Amino acid sequence: MKDYKRYLITAALPYANGPVHIGHLAGVYVPADIYVRYLRLKGIDVIFVCGSDEHGVPITIKARQEGVNPKEIVDRYHEMNKKAFADFGISFNIYSRTSNKTHHETASGFFKTLYDKGIFLEKTTKQYFDTEAGQFLADRYITGICPICGNASAYGDQCESCGTSLNATDLKDPKSTLSGSTPELRDTLHWFLPLDKYEDFFKNWILKENKHWKVNVYGQCKSWLNAGLQPRAVSRDLEWGIPVPVEGADGKVLYVWFDAPIGYISATKELTKDWEKYWKDPETRLIHFIGKDNIVFHCIIFPAMLKAEGSYILPENVPANEFLNLEGDKISTSRNWAVWLHEYLEEFPGKEDVLRYVLCANAPETKDNDYTWKDFQTRNNNELVAILGNFVNRSFVLTQKYYNGLIPEPGKLLNSDKKTLAEIAVIKQSVENSLDNFRIRESLKYAMDLARLGNKYLADTEPWAIQKTDPERVKTIIYISLQITANLSALIEPFLPNTAGKLREYLNIERINWTDIGSDEILKPGHHIKKPGLLFDKIEDAAIEAQLEKLNSTKKMNEGSETNAPQQKDLISYDEFMKNDIRIGTILEAEKVPKTKKLMKLKIDTGIDQRTVVSGIAEYFEAEEIIGKQVSILVNLEPRNIKGIESQGMILMAEDTDGSLKFIMPGDKVSNGSVIS
Ligand code: MF3
Ligand code: ZN
Repeated sequence: MKDYKRYLITAALPYANGPVHIGHLAGVYVPADIYVRYLRLKGIDVIFVCGSDEHGVPITIKARQEGVNPKEIVDRYHEMNKKAFADFGISFNIYSRTSNKTHHETASGFFKTLYDKGIFLEKTTKQYFDTEAGQFLADRYITGICPICGNASAYGDQCESCGTSLNATDLKDPKSTLSGSTPELRDTLHWFLPLDKYEDFFKNWILKENKHWKVNVYGQCKSWLNAGLQPRAVSRDLEWGIPVPVEGADGKVLYVWFDAPIGYISATKELTKDWEKYWKDPETRLIHFIGKDNIVFHCIIFPAMLKAEGSYILPENVPANEFLNLEGDKISTSRNWAVWLHEYLEEFPGKEDVLRYVLCANAPETKDNDYTWKDFQTRNNNELVAILGNFVNRSFVLTQKYYNGLIPEPGKLLNSDKKTLAEIAVIKQSVENSLDNFRIRESLKYAMDLARLGNKYLADTEPWAIQKTDPERVKTIIYISLQITANLSALIEPFLPNTAGKLREYLNIERINWTDIGSDEILKPGHHIKKPGLLFDKIEDAAIEAQLEKLNSTKKMNEGSETNAPQQKDLISYDEFMKNDIRIGTILEAEKVPKTKKLMKLKIDTGIDQRTVVSGIAEYFEAEEIIGKQVSILVNLEPRNIKGIESQGMILMAEDTDGSLKFIMPGDKVSNGSVIS
């Protein structure tokens, strides 16, 4: 690979519409942070940028659900996610946000440049418009019947029952979720990035020049390119976002996937006056860390934007990861199937590095992977405690016990001592080689080999058994163990930054440069180390059971709502609901309708009048037991003739999951005619 002068590392901007969870960390932020920390330790000029993605439809939907302004949502989650990343030691040089001024100007300017260069196609397309709400509808704001599986509440972009991606115009009986009305198709003008014009460029750039990309990334790009690239709209009819900076584009904003990646540029601008050096000089190596659902945007669409602009470099690599599952199921925000970072921190305080370790060891680099609490416990107890913690602790304890914390002068090194020291550089080389190729989990395994080496050395030399008979030899053994420990403090730093900090503190040393790992003597004889604490402690079964219990109750709740309760019906407006005139009345008389199984003829005092209602409740109640009960009755239902009896209204019943019926009654007695609303 060519030598680069500097590195620009980006990590996908998470949407500020919810908290971040372990899937985010494992897929993107932990691998990116490990890589960046490694580069920094090597003394490489690198900046690491990220921030909140604050536009787009999901944020407006969340805001609507809560009945607040989108700004309130993004402010909340921006702060929350920024803190969670900082808590886990994700060492961004800047964590910015796309709602700020610099970004609005940068994204707007970028669009304008392409516009002025005549890059865009302008096309009029048909889009659903809600005449009651007076606005165009994003696909996500439309529900209807799925043309594939018949699910009655499919969304305009996707049916969540059968998973099919849809266009809003595919839905049968479309309804606006804003007003409940049937939307109409109207013409709307949008700007399109003509990806088709860059198809040859991408076929060459990706398929020929970027053969070194990960197979999952290369493969996805290849199938996009084989299918042929189409022009893509880069604007939307929406209120929330960056206004399209063109005359007459009122009510139109930049498509979120147009503005968000420009967020990387804006964040760099905020960070340094030298931002152009990082974005425009071919001596910069640009790397995007992302999850697999972002591949096409970072490998094709954003590069096409950069190329169309003309003055930017393109990414040298896009090491996208697959997804992390949780206990065998897809992580899902809406089903609350996740381990949220802010909750983990409350439940496992001080164990940030443990989660980093487990997520790195399980990073879904080549395929989707599963996170289980059992594995979390095993890796903590059998690896962090039993291998890393154990070795470090023994080397400290021996030094304290025999030399009061003073590093002893070694005697003549035996061949086996020299071999052990020489092994450090070999291990370091393996770690580097894996990191350089974005095989981050493999690199962690090699880093742990250094602790394994230390344990083996102590097991082979058994200093505790020979202290009485050969104290000179023990000096050498302790000296060598401490050299290994000092090297460990640097080698594990990218992975476990807190632990590395503790190690430096106990060793009473400054940070060691990556280049010095494996050099002859890191700690000098005569140096004093401090009284150490434990690096890790065992995680007991009870803590794991508590986590599993928590997930179990989530599962039960989800099952209750998913399999038993019928699907929610289409939305209606407040006004539509208010058309129902529902009152409390009292049952005065009741008798079964002859020759029917289900029907009961009731006389009800509605407070307005006394009227007859025929109701299908006879299978569940005897006439005598319901006389005198207060019930809810829809009084303005059109009268209907049922078995020769005119029924003037409807008694409201709750149908339980087993099909049985219960009356809807007031909690306390009220006057007949009381209005329900
Ligand atoms: N917010 C997007 C997601 O969570 C990622 C945006 S990455 C960027 O999937 F490049 F657009 F910034
Ligand atoms: Zn479907």
